[in-house]
Amino acid sequence: MSITKKKVLVIFGTRPEAIKLAPVIKELEKSSNIFRPYVCVTAQHREMLDQVLEIFNITPDFDLDLMTSCQELSKLSAEILNTLKSVIDKVKPDIIIVQGDTTTTFIASLVGFYSKVKIGYVEAGLRSFNKHSPYPEEINRQLTSVLADVYFAPTKVSRKNLIKENIPKNKIHITGNTIVDSVKFIKKNYIQKSNKSNKSILVTVHRRENWGKNLISVCQAVKKIAELYPEYTIIWPVHLNPVVKDIIYKNLSNIPNIKLMYPLNYLKFMEYLNSSILILTDSGGVQEEATVLGKPTLLLRDTTERPEALQSGTVKQVGCNAKKILMEVKKLLNRKSYYKKVAKKNNVFGDGNAAKKICKILAKL
Ligand code: UD1
Ligand code: UDP
Repeated sequence: MSITKKKVLVIFGTRPEAIKLAPVIKELEKSSNIFRPYVCVTAQHREMLDQVLEIFNITPDFDLDLMTSCQELSKLSAEILNTLKSVIDKVKPDIIIVQGDTTTTFIASLVGFYSKVKIGYVEAGLRSFNKHSPYPEEINRQLTSVLADVYFAPTKVSRKNLIKENIPKNKIHITGNTIVDSVKFIKKNYIQKSNKSNKSILVTVHRRENWGKNLISVCQAVKKIAELYPEYTIIWPVHLNPVVKDIIYKNLSNIPNIKLMYPLNYLKFMEYLNSSILILTDSGGVQEEATVLGKPTLLLRDTTERPEALQSGTVKQVGCNAKKILMEVKKLLNRKSYYKKVAKKNNVFGDGNAAKKICKILAKL
């Protein structure tokens, strides 16, 4: 008797979506007796996406190749709307899987809904409750939730948020965040144990709310840190968005202990994350990874949709004020007992089996 396999179309476009969906794709591939997975990338990101596809050895079945330089939200949305339907028509999936909060996430869900295909939403239920921060991600999350049919909430907090928005309880499954699966996979298979003293500080910034004066303020803080702590090297893999890149290179080029770099592939990035003494970031994914690894992190944002990271103590929200950042860096680097208290590994985002749980639920649908 031949069993009809479930056709699962996984759609994503950017670096973080790829990192967080790779474990799900691998798990679907492992259960090839149950699932026939298809991967479609919008390529909202190009080089930064391809770096992840290479590391996880994922070859998309469909590549819409949509990225353009300095793309606008509405134009990118229109391109996804125009091109994705033909993929859905070809595959005729039983379910579409999306992840997170990007333009790809929301528009892919909308196209799926128009095509009357069920949507499984990975990392559902994160909320900052501020329409403008993170912008446009908070609204992308809310809109995707309205369109989705099955919700994979990473934590209890995210489940509660969904319930408050009248999502039926039986459609919400707490699975943990798939990023923990990715971190554990990389750590186990690639990162060597090292007793080297950690003499680097890792920085990433890219959020739209931080474009302009906030980013300049972070650059001023980083310059001061480099001056005050010449024994540390500041590693800053710079996001490829020209709006971000131009400000960072203009403000921080040619400072001996500040290394501005092309985005690192995921393995290299995890190596730096693992060996750095502290992290300065406005990234969602990096906060989660730092929490798993117990790396003290200063969050360069005024709002958060990840209260669990703050509650764990590993991440401290400081915003972008240069004085405030400097004060917190001094506290961490000068007070060993405080540092030790903060630098604790944490499982608030899950146990590393999120993808397995997601696939089990998909199999039962
Ligand atoms: C997007 C997501 C954001 C996510 C971030 C992860 C939206 C609205 N924003 O923001 O939620 O946190 O990705 O990094 O979905 N670029 C390249 N090469 C790349 C990637 C980007 O050159 O590989 C440049 C291009 O000029 C592109 C620009 O960056 O137009 C902006 O990319 P876009 O995806 O629109 O916004 P991000 O700021 O990357
Ligand atoms: N990352 C990477 N190389 C880099 C910087 C970040 O692989 O040079 C990874 C990082 O480990 C994390 C993800 O990219 O998993 C975060 O992506 P980003 O900060 O761009 O987006 P966000 O998570 O804020 O949406």
